[in-house]
Amino acid sequence: MRYPPVNPKCPHLLHGGDWNPDQWRDVPGILDEDFRLMDLAHANAMSVGIFAWSALEPEEGRYDFGWLDEVMDRLAKTGKFAVLATPSGARPAWMAQTYPEVLRVDAEGRRQHFGERHNHCFTSPVYRAKTREMNRRLAERYRAHPALLLWHVSNEFNGECHCPLCREAFRDWLKARYGSLGALNAAWWTSFWSHAYSDWSQVEPPSPIGENTVHGLKLDWKRFVTAQTIGFFENEAAPLREVTPDVPITTNFMGTFPGLDYFRFAEHVDVVSWDNYPFWHSPAGDAAIGALTGFLHDLNRSLKGGKPFLLMESTPSVTNWHGVPKLKRPGMHLLSSLQAVAHGSDSVQYFQWRKSRGSSEKLHGAVVDHVGTEDTRVFRDVAEVGAALAGLDAVVGTGVRPEVALLYDWENRWALDDAQGLNNAHKDYDATILKHYEAFWSRGVPVDVVSEDGDFSTYRLLVAPMLYMVRPGVAERIEAFVAAGGTFVATYWSGFVGESDLCFLGGFPGPLRRVLGIWDEESDALYDEDEGHVKVAAMGKTYAVKHACDLIRAETAEALATYDADFYAGRPALTANRFGQGRAYFIAFRNNQDFESDFYGDLVAELGLLRALDVELPAGVTAQMRTDGETDFVFVMNFTAEVKAVALPEGTRYGEAPLGAVRAAVVDAASPVAGTLSLAPYGVRVLTRAHAGR
Ligand code: GLA
Ligand code: ZN
Repeated sequence: MRYPPVNPKCPHLLHGGDWNPDQWRDVPGILDEDFRLMDLAHANAMSVGIFAWSALEPEEGRYDFGWLDEVMDRLAKTGKFAVLATPSGARPAWMAQTYPEVLRVDAEGRRQHFGERHNHCFTSPVYRAKTREMNRRLAERYRAHPALLLWHVSNEFNGECHCPLCREAFRDWLKARYGSLGALNAAWWTSFWSHAYSDWSQVEPPSPIGENTVHGLKLDWKRFVTAQTIGFFENEAAPLREVTPDVPITTNFMGTFPGLDYFRFAEHVDVVSWDNYPFWHSPAGDAAIGALTGFLHDLNRSLKGGKPFLLMESTPSVTNWHGVPKLKRPGMHLLSSLQAVAHGSDSVQYFQWRKSRGSSEKLHGAVVDHVGTEDTRVFRDVAEVGAALAGLDAVVGTGVRPEVALLYDWENRWALDDAQGLNNAHKDYDATILKHYEAFWSRGVPVDVVSEDGDFSTYRLLVAPMLYMVRPGVAERIEAFVAAGGTFVATYWSGFVGESDLCFLGGFPGPLRRVLGIWDEESDALYDEDEGHVKVAAMGKTYAVKHACDLIRAETAEALATYDADFYAGRPALTANRFGQGRAYFIAFRNNQDFESDFYGDLVAELGLLRALDVELPAGVTAQMRTDGETDFVFVMNFTAEVKAVALPEGTRYGEAPLGAVRAAVVDAASPVAGTLSLAPYGVRVLTRAHAGR
């Protein structure tokens, strides 16, 4: 079983990136050079027009598509494709001058000046009309163009606007959600600090100079910002869908960007794409960054239920906005590029193709440097990736099919961020999710990321760290999952609040109490200096407690470990509850050692969970797999600066997928491979085998 390619016009992995020929229209020869270099780099898909509004409509109503016609025609003539952007990410100066309402108003009520980008109101009828008009013209002009592959709507939607139009839209959104002011007051618990509203017009968005304590309001504002951003996106997409119904639409996401619930947004795009700028070679260590990046790729694949996504931006070299813009060490460019493919990307795209001469991104990494030739280390790295991707057509459209789901939920994170009274200094939702993820990544166990609204039933293990908010119906679906034989893992700080951020009455973890078989009575917070003060002995080892631990009572659950100190010595720290055919674990404490690794290591073995390679992997090495159900592609990746060896499992025949130019350099044995696989520093090898697993 395979997913179709993003567009049947191009059944290959995409390679290319953000290209701004509009910046170079006055410089002779640049376009010719760009096309010559694209061929050398094996580029087949270029993103154009992303910030080109002032080039496309230099004055209101005067359009100039000539330069873009030439770009599109030459792409088509040379067998390449356009990821064609709509230019709403930055508006021209004339528009801001003529229609100030298109500019954003900040949370303190200040209308922003013209400048920057992504600085527009999502509600403004003028901006919506202008973007619709521009998009219709683009769609009508290029509807039949052979180069048109994919629509790239706007760029990295983010931020919020507090203008009068947006505030009114927020009130309308609330009216639709609650029906009456009474229902809103109840949901938001506004009797607190005399906040009850007697008229809709009194409701204002959160602001540093206004409301910040009504958690239900803050949560609903964030939900509204997601809804309004999607509304703006839909307004842009409407003419595209109408005029070019066969051309898929995407917009580029930003990992775990806190401001938008991407699970909701993903329902509106045809294909998910995202921009990835990891801090390789930073003090965090490449293995940790590798795991984080693996998680982010898995998240993006999971946003549309496992469908391949696109890596829309990555840097070929440095990222200019990093505090320490570090060069990628030899090997890292290929490794980080193929890592995206390993987790389900059908592309490796860059920001940027050619460095601009001026302004803030002139020193950002690019395929083509100011020197202008192919004789650079970075260009060779990029060409190497291009050659590798060109040899991996068979990977296009393959899936991943994990047995493990990790629950990551934006609304949960928003609610947790607002909570005051748990360890305020260390909420660490993302970092905690990652710790749990790493236990699987380091064993090569494929993982999907699901929200509370996800379908759990196709998995064998569901891990839900810090599930503080439990929305209606979620506990019931978790119960059904466990009753049917699934294994569920929850932790401290779970089941505290419902969808309006009101605490559950009658004992935490609220609706999860039955399936977990515990009552979470109190939460203790630990100073950093307290570290190691309380310990938990489990699985033959002792683990220190860090930041937080909950004092629970085992009801139907069995205690697998207890605290060893303080007034709660002897109380359960880890429990397991049989529920129907399955089991639910509760980890009551955060730890600073490798508890997660040991705990999940045991679970992976006990449940016999699918691993990309069924062997022990050296530290810093992971294996990830894609499959069409017949052939598996196993990506073995070394996120360390040392040579590593991986003993391949016996009894399975492995072949090796060619990696273009790289192959000669890294691979010592000809296909088929067996025995011990050697990985160069930051090395990656792609193995093939007959499908194993589901
Ligand atoms: C973002 C933007 C790009 C560019 C890069 C630089 O991802 O979408 O336009 O600014 O950052 O890293
Ligand atoms: Zn606004």
